[in-house]
Amino acid sequence: MNYYIGMDLGTSGVKGVLFDKNGNIINSVLKEYDIISPCDGYAEEDPNIWLEKTIDALKELTDVDYKDSIKGLGFSGQMHGLVLLDKDDNVLRNSIIWCDNRTGKEAKEIEETIGLEELKKITGNIPMPAFTLAKLLWVRNNEPDIYKKINKAMLPKDYICYMLTNKFLGEYSDTSGMQIMDIKKLDYSKELLDKFDIDINIFPKLIKSTDIRGKLCDKYMNLLKLNNCNIVGGGGDQAVGAIGSGVTSERDASIVLGSSGVIFSPLKDLLILNGEVQTFVTCEYNKYHVMGVTNGCGTSLKWVRDNVFGLDYNTMSKMAENVNVGANNLYYLPYLMGERTPILDNDARGVFFGIKNTTDKAEMIRAVMEGVGYSIKDVFELIPKDKDRIFISGGGANSKLYREIIASMINRAVTRIDCDESPSLGAAILAMVGNNEYDSITNACKAIIKIKDETRPIKAWVDYYNNGYKIYKKIYNNTKTIFKEMKEI
Ligand code: XUL
Repeated sequence: MNYYIGMDLGTSGVKGVLFDKNGNIINSVLKEYDIISPCDGYAEEDPNIWLEKTIDALKELTDVDYKDSIKGLGFSGQMHGLVLLDKDDNVLRNSIIWCDNRTGKEAKEIEETIGLEELKKITGNIPMPAFTLAKLLWVRNNEPDIYKKINKAMLPKDYICYMLTNKFLGEYSDTSGMQIMDIKKLDYSKELLDKFDIDINIFPKLIKSTDIRGKLCDKYMNLLKLNNCNIVGGGGDQAVGAIGSGVTSERDASIVLGSSGVIFSPLKDLLILNGEVQTFVTCEYNKYHVMGVTNGCGTSLKWVRDNVFGLDYNTMSKMAENVNVGANNLYYLPYLMGERTPILDNDARGVFFGIKNTTDKAEMIRAVMEGVGYSIKDVFELIPKDKDRIFISGGGANSKLYREIIASMINRAVTRIDCDESPSLGAAILAMVGNNEYDSITNACKAIIKIKDETRPIKAWVDYYNNGYKIYKKIYNNTKTIFKEMKEI
């Protein structure tokens, strides 16, 4: 039997899963790390810690007596983060990661330098503070001494793969989230980079998600002894997670309740929308998808768990089950780290609205779940609606209540697959296809992905949430200027 590893380099940890070639989970290991927030709105992580934790996870995961049957390894990576190396490949600073909020000015600089329409035409997207180009410009504007030393710039998983293989490579799906790629030509836009006077040679050469990067370099081969293991291109976490949920057709969409909440749908042809949702490249060559992101999804429940209640997720979900729909008129805006789709507001912050003397913990938990649900609905409204199936995955999807809330918010049944590890499974599938275990991503998904269950909307909740959504929107619309005023004090 052949085996494959799927690594998910996420925001709160790196998860490694060993699968057999049929997609059965053999073993899984999680190594956690924390976001570093030196000040409000900043989010950074240390690439050296990612590497250390990845190696720890791989050591544990591959401690088996059939190492030579491990044929491939693929990565799913948190997107948009910036890793900078000097000429000796030392990490120059912490990575500024996807949910960092410091780059509002740089997003304006991008718009002024290129122009909105031109930028959309080239990159498929409007200027986004979250994307890598804005982060690189921030380093140039604020840390010129570091900027001068840049020899290589890359995305998080591409840094890890570079360290593992000594091959400096990137791939199309993740790179489409850097805002420096010509989305039609599937290559860096020299024209765009020239306008910012950025040297194109600092970025890695691009390959396909299923292309083989290489084997482990000597250092890690000696340590891990994975003689027959080919490391493939891999992809951005959403594109890879979609594969691991079986979402490969434009008739499918997926909702991921992870640290961020994401609605994802493959496209038949390239479609550049207004900018509220993003257009990126999938892990299949020359194919595209749309995607909208709500920043504070899992982060919201994690925040109440860690800072308010100190309870575990199961207990929290059980408590919220006993609360009426609407949490007795308590609302929550999940904008703990600003918000991307659709309001694109870095200054927005979390809000509980409607607290009474009788408000209890259970109501607050339910309000958080419903607030995230409204933010998912906000994104869902913007993607094409012609879908046969909507898949749901991510940590939040383990809660039946959460699934019922989401299904009722969007008034569509949501389907779960029989594997809780979509990004790792997607990454392993890329490695399987790269090793010719299957002849295409779609056929691999057909053979491997099994449906687990379906959660249908609850009629009374659908009606309630249609009205509640209007209030949710009003709360933000009536407070958005206050967030900016608060910043000025
Ligand atoms: C996608 C995005 C997130 C991060 C972290 O645009 O920002 O999915 O990749 O998961």
